[in-house]
Amino acid sequence: MKTLIAANWKMHGDFVWTEKPAAFRSMFSDNDRVEILICPPAHMLQAMVGACAGFDISIGAQNCHDQISGAFTGEISAQMVAGTGASHVILGHSERRAMFGDTDEIVAAKTSATRAAGLVPIVCVGESRAVREAGQAEEVGGAQLANSIPEDADGTNLVIAYEPVWAIGTGLVPTLVDIATMHDHIRGCLAKRFGAHIADTIQILYGGSLKPSNAKDILALKDVSGGLIGGAGLEMDSLAAIAAVAP
Ligand code: 13P
Repeated sequence: MKTLIAANWKMHGDFVWTEKPAAFRSMFSDNDRVEILICPPAHMLQAMVGACAGFDISIGAQNCHDQISGAFTGEISAQMVAGTGASHVILGHSERRAMFGDTDEIVAAKTSATRAAGLVPIVCVGESRAVREAGQAEEVGGAQLANSIPEDADGTNLVIAYEPVWAIGTGLVPTLVDIATMHDHIRGCLAKRFGAHIADTIQILYGGSLKPSNAKDILALKDVSGGLIGGAGLEMDSLAAIAAVAP
């Protein structure tokens, strides 16, 4: 499987940023080895799909609603995301779980809707600092994973991101052993649910203060299939530097 390097732009970006894919490709072009995904804010999805034409860079949304359409002011459906030409949707990011009420149940419904629209959900899980310190990271992460993946999922068209909440935007990262242990645990949970053959095809991304200086060691870990990158994904030179050290 290819390494997936995904930039989550969060609530950053304007139309000048549509020049970034070309800038990125001037710095990194090994698309046989590494798959690149950029997840801009929703207002830029279509323009970014256009800006990436010819650059072999995929575009994803950062959220969607679980219904196809309706009276849901301010929301965007998976079908609408698909209509822009995007390919992925990040779901259950810890910022959405903490600030916008996305529970495991809601994430599961959104994941189901995303797959039904022909898009690939990136389902995020990860523990808080208190949970990590209590030694319950695997248990909590495993439960989040189990409950955020809908009943109708078969393990295809699915990406998982392990993002410890305390590592996001803080400069803190778990030890390599802790990242490896979590990814191994997630792979094991997926194998129990979908079988090892399917589980082995699911990309499991690491996210949380991933940057050029730590990416090589983290991305080399056995069950780490790529990265979900916040801050370091806003600038194309740092995103390219991360892609350059990906296995
Ligand atoms: P940072 O890379 O800024 O820590 O953010 C990670 C993240 O939340 C990606 O979804």
